[in-house]
Amino acid sequence: MRVIFIGPPGAGKGTQAAKVVERHGVAHISTGDILRENVKRKTPLGLKAKEFMNAGRLVPDELIVAMMKDRLRESDCAGGFILDGFPRTVPQAQALDALMVELDLELDAAVLFQVDDETVVERLSGRRLCRKCGAIYHAVFHPTAAEGVCDACGGEIYQRDDDKEAVIRNRLTVYHSQTAPLIDYYRSCGRLLEVDAAGSSDAVLVALEKRLGA
Ligand code: AP5
Ligand code: MG
Repeated sequence: MRVIFIGPPGAGKGTQAAKVVERHGVAHISTGDILRENVKRKTPLGLKAKEFMNAGRLVPDELIVAMMKDRLRESDCAGGFILDGFPRTVPQAQALDALMVELDLELDAAVLFQVDDETVVERLSGRRLCRKCGAIYHAVFHPTAAEGVCDACGGEIYQRDDDKEAVIRNRLTVYHSQTAPLIDYYRSCGRLLEVDAAGSSDAVLVALEKRLGA
């Protein structure tokens, strides 16, 4: 399985990727997670990316493409992967196509998670994450059993810096202008699979697995 997850912020890409990875044993590559790790460690990439991320803007293509060229060569990608949040612009998609040719690999599909903007705001303003294992929760839809403590590993629960309403709205504007053109890009080559991502998390997983034929 080599697939891309496309969709607005808060569509549930990370939530569903974790479930698919658990079932199918493929690598989960989230560019947002890699960037946040770099910001935390204050690497040169993290220092460059931080301001863009906090403003809800995209990190420049050349930084992302260089990062992904290295990541896709790592050994855990040999058994397949989910790209969660990459590509996010047409130039990134073109760079990925060139890289797949170079690595002699084929992309199976680009999955589009469809959800409206108000649902996104509701989901992201309630999102909570585990600082230790990255598990994704929601204050209302999927709360932890004990407040502030991860059910899976006991780690500390936190809220992302960019999950504030004004930044969420900016991320949505950026999605519609810069990432939505990828829908036609993948549809025109017959690789687009569309999934209704507005239902419950379990319902979305059923629809997703059906579309993937998994
Ligand atoms: P990134 O981390 O990729 O953020 P995003 O695309 O904005 O998406 P999210 O991670 O916020 O949402 P998600 O779809 O994963 O939703 P989740 O499953 O968590 O990127 C962050 C930043 O990094 C970008 O703004 C940019 O600056 C930079 N960046 C990253 N990649 C880049 C690239 N390729 N190029 C340039 N810059 C890049 O779910 C959200 C919430 O909803 C959770 O609380 C969850 O519990 C809940 N939820 C999920 N599904 C459901 C459901 N079905 N019902 C109810 N609640 C649900
Ligand atoms: Mg995510």
